Amino acid sequence: MAHGEDHVLRVLKIARFIAAKEGADIEVVSKAALLHDSFRNGEKHALKAAEFARKLLSEEGYGEEFIEAVVHAIEAHSFSGRIEPRTLEAKVLSDADKLDAIGAIGVARAFMVAGERGRGIEETVKHFEEKLLKLKDLLYTETARKLAERRHEFLIAFYRKIKEELDFEDLK
Ligand code: NI
Repeated sequence: MAHGEDHVLRVLKIARFIAAKEGADIEVVSKAALLHDSFRNGEKHALKAAEFARKLLSEEGYGEEFIEAVVHAIEAHSFSGRIEPRTLEAKVLSDADKLDAIGAIGVARAFMVAGERGRGIEETVKHFEEKLLKLKDLLYTETARKLAERRHEFLIAFYRKIKEELDFEDLK
Protein backbone atom coordinates (compact mmCIF):
# COMPACT_ATOMS: atom_id res chain seq x y z
CA MET A 1 0.00 0.00 0.00
CA ALA A 2 1.93 3.00 -1.27
CA HIS A 3 -0.94 5.32 -0.31
CA GLY A 4 -1.85 3.55 2.91
CA GLU A 5 -2.07 4.73 6.47
CA ASP A 6 1.72 4.96 6.85
CA HIS A 7 1.86 7.42 3.92
CA VAL A 8 -0.93 9.49 5.48
CA LEU A 9 0.87 9.62 8.84
CA ARG A 10 4.17 10.66 7.22
CA VAL A 11 2.40 13.40 5.25
CA LEU A 12 0.74 14.54 8.48
CA LYS A 13 4.11 14.80 10.22
CA ILE A 14 5.84 16.60 7.33
CA ALA A 15 2.85 18.92 6.80
CA ARG A 16 2.75 19.91 10.47
CA PHE A 17 6.48 20.62 10.40
CA ILE A 18 6.17 22.84 7.31
CA ALA A 19 3.03 24.51 8.69
CA ALA A 20 4.84 25.47 11.90
CA LYS A 21 7.80 26.94 10.00
CA GLU A 22 5.63 28.79 7.48
CA GLY A 23 3.00 30.04 9.89
CA ALA A 24 0.10 28.07 8.37
CA ASP A 25 -2.98 27.01 10.33
CA ILE A 26 -1.94 23.73 11.96
CA GLU A 27 -5.50 22.49 12.54
CA VAL A 28 -6.53 22.96 8.92
CA VAL A 29 -3.32 21.40 7.64
CA SER A 30 -3.59 18.41 10.00
CA LYS A 31 -7.21 17.64 9.15
CA ALA A 32 -6.49 17.99 5.43
CA ALA A 33 -3.43 15.72 5.67
CA LEU A 34 -5.38 13.02 7.53
CA LEU A 35 -8.20 13.02 4.97
CA HIS A 36 -6.31 13.77 1.71
CA ASP A 37 -6.07 10.20 0.43
CA SER A 38 -9.43 8.85 1.64
CA PHE A 39 -10.08 7.65 -1.91
CA ARG A 40 -7.07 6.43 -3.76
CA ASN A 41 -8.62 4.25 -6.38
CA GLY A 42 -9.82 5.60 -9.67
CA GLU A 43 -9.82 9.03 -11.19
CA LYS A 44 -10.28 12.32 -9.43
CA HIS A 45 -9.27 10.93 -6.06
CA ALA A 46 -8.58 14.43 -4.73
CA LEU A 47 -12.08 15.67 -5.54
CA LYS A 48 -13.66 12.58 -4.04
CA ALA A 49 -11.64 12.96 -0.86
CA ALA A 50 -12.57 16.67 -0.69
CA GLU A 51 -16.28 15.88 -0.95
CA PHE A 52 -15.94 13.17 1.68
CA ALA A 53 -14.16 15.63 4.00
CA ARG A 54 -16.89 18.24 3.52
CA LYS A 55 -19.59 15.76 4.51
CA LEU A 56 -17.65 14.29 7.42
CA LEU A 57 -16.60 17.63 8.92
CA SER A 58 -20.05 19.17 8.65
CA GLU A 59 -21.53 16.09 10.33
CA GLU A 60 -18.95 16.56 13.07
CA GLY A 61 -20.11 20.17 13.52
CA TYR A 62 -17.06 22.09 12.25
CA GLY A 63 -17.59 25.68 11.10
CA GLU A 64 -18.05 26.62 7.45
CA GLU A 65 -14.76 28.50 7.16
CA PHE A 66 -12.71 25.64 8.62
CA ILE A 67 -14.44 23.12 6.36
CA GLU A 68 -13.84 25.17 3.20
CA ALA A 69 -10.16 25.60 4.09
CA VAL A 70 -9.71 21.83 4.56
CA VAL A 71 -11.73 21.00 1.44
CA HIS A 72 -9.67 23.36 -0.72
CA ALA A 73 -6.37 21.93 0.56
CA ILE A 74 -7.51 18.41 -0.27
CA GLU A 75 -8.89 19.20 -3.72
CA ALA A 76 -5.71 21.06 -4.69
CA HIS A 77 -3.12 18.55 -3.41
CA SER A 78 -2.95 16.24 -6.38
CA PHE A 79 -0.12 16.23 -8.94
CA SER A 80 -2.54 15.31 -11.72
CA GLY A 81 -5.38 17.56 -10.55
CA ARG A 82 -6.11 20.84 -12.25
CA ILE A 83 -6.74 22.91 -9.15
CA GLU A 84 -3.99 25.32 -8.05
CA PRO A 85 -3.58 25.79 -4.30
CA ARG A 86 -4.76 29.31 -3.35
CA THR A 87 -4.07 29.19 0.37
CA LEU A 88 -0.91 28.64 2.39
CA GLU A 89 -2.51 25.56 3.98
CA ALA A 90 -3.20 24.02 0.56
CA LYS A 91 0.37 24.72 -0.51
CA VAL A 92 1.70 23.06 2.65
CA LEU A 93 -0.33 19.87 2.05
CA SER A 94 0.70 19.73 -1.60
CA ASP A 95 4.36 20.12 -0.59
CA ALA A 96 4.18 17.47 2.13
CA ASP A 97 2.54 14.95 -0.20
CA LYS A 98 5.24 15.55 -2.82
CA LEU A 99 8.07 15.22 -0.30
CA ASP A 100 6.79 11.72 0.53
CA ALA A 101 7.16 10.84 -3.17
CA ILE A 102 10.87 11.64 -3.40
CA GLY A 103 13.99 10.51 -1.53
CA ALA A 104 14.46 6.91 -0.38
CA ILE A 105 10.79 6.71 0.59
CA GLY A 106 9.83 7.95 -2.86
CA VAL A 107 11.89 5.20 -4.47
CA ALA A 108 10.35 2.58 -2.17
CA ARG A 109 6.83 3.84 -2.85
CA ALA A 110 7.35 3.95 -6.62
CA PHE A 111 8.22 0.27 -6.60
CA MET A 112 5.32 -0.53 -4.28
CA VAL A 113 2.98 1.12 -6.79
CA ALA A 114 4.71 -0.84 -9.55
CA GLY A 115 4.02 -4.05 -7.65
CA GLU A 116 0.38 -3.11 -7.08
CA ARG A 117 -0.10 -2.30 -10.78
CA GLY A 118 2.08 -5.04 -12.24
CA ARG A 119 4.62 -2.60 -13.72
CA GLY A 120 8.22 -3.58 -14.37
CA ILE A 121 11.47 -1.83 -13.52
CA GLU A 122 11.87 -0.04 -16.87
CA GLU A 123 8.34 1.33 -16.72
CA THR A 124 8.91 2.52 -13.18
CA VAL A 125 12.11 4.27 -14.21
CA LYS A 126 10.08 6.06 -16.89
CA HIS A 127 7.71 7.16 -14.10
CA PHE A 128 10.75 8.73 -12.39
CA GLU A 129 11.32 10.85 -15.51
CA GLU A 130 7.67 11.74 -16.01
CA LYS A 131 6.87 12.59 -12.42
CA LEU A 132 9.23 12.03 -9.51
CA LEU A 133 12.22 13.95 -10.86
CA LYS A 134 9.99 16.98 -11.53
CA LEU A 135 8.41 17.18 -8.09
CA LYS A 136 11.07 19.36 -6.46
CA ASP A 137 10.25 22.13 -8.94
CA LEU A 138 6.57 22.00 -8.02
CA LEU A 139 7.02 22.89 -4.37
CA TYR A 140 5.52 26.11 -3.04
CA THR A 141 7.13 26.77 0.32
CA GLU A 142 10.73 27.60 1.14
CA THR A 143 10.71 25.05 3.97
CA ALA A 144 9.70 22.25 1.60
CA ARG A 145 12.25 23.28 -1.01
CA LYS A 146 14.94 22.98 1.63
CA LEU A 147 13.69 19.59 2.78
CA ALA A 148 13.59 18.42 -0.83
CA GLU A 149 17.25 19.06 -1.57
CA ARG A 150 18.73 15.88 -0.10
CA ARG A 151 15.72 13.79 -1.06
CA HIS A 152 16.05 14.90 -4.66
CA GLU A 153 19.80 14.27 -4.63
CA PHE A 154 19.20 10.68 -3.57
CA LEU A 155 16.50 10.26 -6.21
CA ILE A 156 18.90 11.41 -8.94
CA ALA A 157 21.68 9.15 -7.66
CA PHE A 158 19.34 6.15 -7.61
CA TYR A 159 17.96 6.99 -11.04
CA ARG A 160 21.44 7.29 -12.58
CA LYS A 161 22.59 4.02 -11.04
CA ILE A 162 19.58 2.00 -12.10
CA LYS A 163 19.78 3.44 -15.63
CA GLU A 164 23.44 2.45 -15.75
CA GLU A 165 22.60 -1.12 -14.77
CA LEU A 166 19.62 -1.30 -17.14
CA ASP A 167 21.92 -0.19 -19.98
CA PHE A 168 24.57 -2.76 -18.88
CA GLU A 169 27.09 0.06 -18.65
CA ASP A 170 29.10 -1.99 -16.17
CA LEU A 171 29.51 -4.76 -18.77
CA LYS A 172 31.19 -2.44 -21.20
NI1 NI B 1 -0.97 11.40 -0.60
